[in-house]
Amino acid sequence: MSEQPVDPDLRPPADDAEANQLLTEGVIDVEGRMLDASNVTLVGAIRTDTLAAECVYKPVAGERPLWDFPDGTLAGREISAYLVSEATGWQVVPPTVLREGPFGPGMVQLWMDGDPDVDLAAFVRRDDPALRRMAVFDAVVNNADRKGGHIIPMPDGHVYGVDHGICFSVDPKLRTLLWRWAGTPLPAEAVAVLERLADELRDELGEQLHEHLTRTEVRCTQRRVAELLRTGRHPEPSGEWPALPWPPF
Ligand SMILES: Nc1ncnc2c1ncn2[C@@H]1O[C@H](COP(=O)(O)OP(=O)(O)OP(=O)(O)O)[C@@H](O)[C@H]1O
Ligand SMILES: [Mg+2]
Repeated sequence: MSEQPVDPDLRPPADDAEANQLLTEGVIDVEGRMLDASNVTLVGAIRTDTLAAECVYKPVAGERPLWDFPDGTLAGREISAYLVSEATGWQVVPPTVLREGPFGPGMVQLWMDGDPDVDLAAFVRRDDPALRRMAVFDAVVNNADRKGGHIIPMPDGHVYGVDHGICFSVDPKLRTLLWRWAGTPLPAEAVAVLERLADELRDELGEQLHEHLTRTEVRCTQRRVAELLRTGRHPEPSGEWPALPWPPF
C-alpha cells in the first residue's frame, strides 16, 4: 500500500500519447487485488514525474492455464485486442501496454472510471452505436467473454471494453451479451473500418499481432474479418457453443 501523499503537480494523461507514455514509463504502486477475478488482477497507481492515473496490472505469472488457450499468454491477447481496437479507430480498449511490473511482465491498462449512474443491465440492451461497434470488434477478435462487467460506459458517452484475455481463439467462441444486431446488415462505417482492417492485418498489424499470437490465430483473425465483409452482416450464434457469457454480469 502506498503511503505517499498525492502530488498536486501530477495530472492525468491528456491524450493517448500521454497515456501510453505513462503506462510504459510510470512507476506502478499496487494498491489492491480484484478478489473475484479468476486470474491475478491488480489495481494500482501509476505515475511519472508529471502524470498519474490508476491502472490495472495483470502479471503473466498470475495467469491460470486454460486448456482452450494453450499458446501465448492472456496478457498477449489483451495487447492484441488493444492493437486491433486502435486499428479500428474506435478506441474500444483503454490504452494497454505489455511491460515489466512489480510481479514481472504483464499487461498494464489505464483504469477507466465508468459512469456509476448507468444501469448496466438496461444499457447492454440499448441500440447504442458504441455498443454496436463493440459487437463488431468482438466478432473480429472472437471475444469469448463480453459480459456486462466488461463493458464500461463513460460519463461522456464513450464505451470502453475490458478483459480481452480470452480472445483470438482459432475456434468460434463468440460469447457476448451484445446479440441485439445479430444477422442485421453492418453499418456502412463498420464495413469501411473492416476493409481497412483487412489491409492492415495483411501488413504491419498482422506482424505486430504475431508478436503475441500464433500465425494461425492471426490468420483466423483475417478470416473472421473477411467473413464479416463477405456476409455484410453481424454474426449470429451458431448454436454450436454457448453464445452467452456466464455469469452474464
Ligand atoms: N481498465 C479498466 N478500467 C476500469 N475497470 C476495469 C478495467 N479493467 C478491469 N476493470 C474492472 O475490473 C473487473 C475485473 O477485471 P477483469 O475482468 O479484467 O479481470 P479478470 O481477472 O479477467 O476477472 P474475471 O475472471 O472476473 O473476468 C472488470 O470486470 C471491470 O469491472
Ligand atoms: Mg473479467
